[in-house]
Amino acid sequence: MNLSYQDALAIIGAEGAHPGGFALTKQLLNQEKINRSTMILDAGCGTGQTSQYLVKTFQCQVSAIDIRPEMIEEAKKRFHHGKVEVSLHTNSIEATPFDNEHFDLIIAESTTAFTHIQKSLREFHRILKQGGILLTIDMTAEEKLEIQQKKELMAFYQLPDILTESEWSAAFEQQGFTNLQILKSNTVLKELMQTPPSTNRLLSLPAAVERVLKEHYRLILTYGDSLGYRVFRANKL
Ligand SMILES: C[S@@+](CC[C@H](N)C(=O)[O-])C[C@H]1O[C@@H](n2cnc3c(N)ncnc32)[C@H](O)[C@@H]1O
Repeated sequence: MNLSYQDALAIIGAEGAHPGGFALTKQLLNQEKINRSTMILDAGCGTGQTSQYLVKTFQCQVSAIDIRPEMIEEAKKRFHHGKVEVSLHTNSIEATPFDNEHFDLIIAESTTAFTHIQKSLREFHRILKQGGILLTIDMTAEEKLEIQQKKELMAFYQLPDILTESEWSAAFEQQGFTNLQILKSNTVLKELMQTPPSTNRLLSLPAAVERVLKEHYRLILTYGDSLGYRVFRANKL
């Protein structure tokens, strides 16, 4: 069985599946002004860990969207057990079911890069209110990433492209975002050394999943200095 990286994440029900993990999520959200009336979208919610944290911590209004029904099922179970109310949607972030100017804040953790980036940013801009905030965590090519390396990474992670920091910045600006800030920047290798994954993660997994995760760690160790991530914060004004 040939699984993609995202298939493997879905099978293991991965949570905090972005550089910096759940610790970074909490740090970013605690820097924002969020209250009971704040409308938030968790874009590419995966198994819903961030959505649940938002509701439990701030009692705010949360919608969550993911293109994979199996991720939505896991998120549904989490919300049921946690007794939290989240409006769940199985859709692509490139074309969402939400009205114009609906959200105060969108958080997209390791999701936008897997999609048609311009379409997703345009959609985020459409559904954000005036003054709304977009927070994204996304994979970034460091300047020294060579074409052949980029091709290998794009094929494994099924990414349409891997943008550099300046290409990401241009894409946000092209879709009308302003006040772009880079809240965090790191290479994936340094991140892995600072917060190593739990060793349990590779135990007793289906062989096909184990192969994909081993390849993921091999790529990080091989290209870890050339591959990075950025936390972007931008406004719709
Ligand atoms: C690396 S996981 C991150 C999940 C979650 N945000 C987290 O940090 O744990 C990427 C997620 O994006 C979702 N995804 C990929 N393409 C998408 C799209 N076009 N629209 C919505 N979700 C998408 C995947 O199904 C997966 O749940």
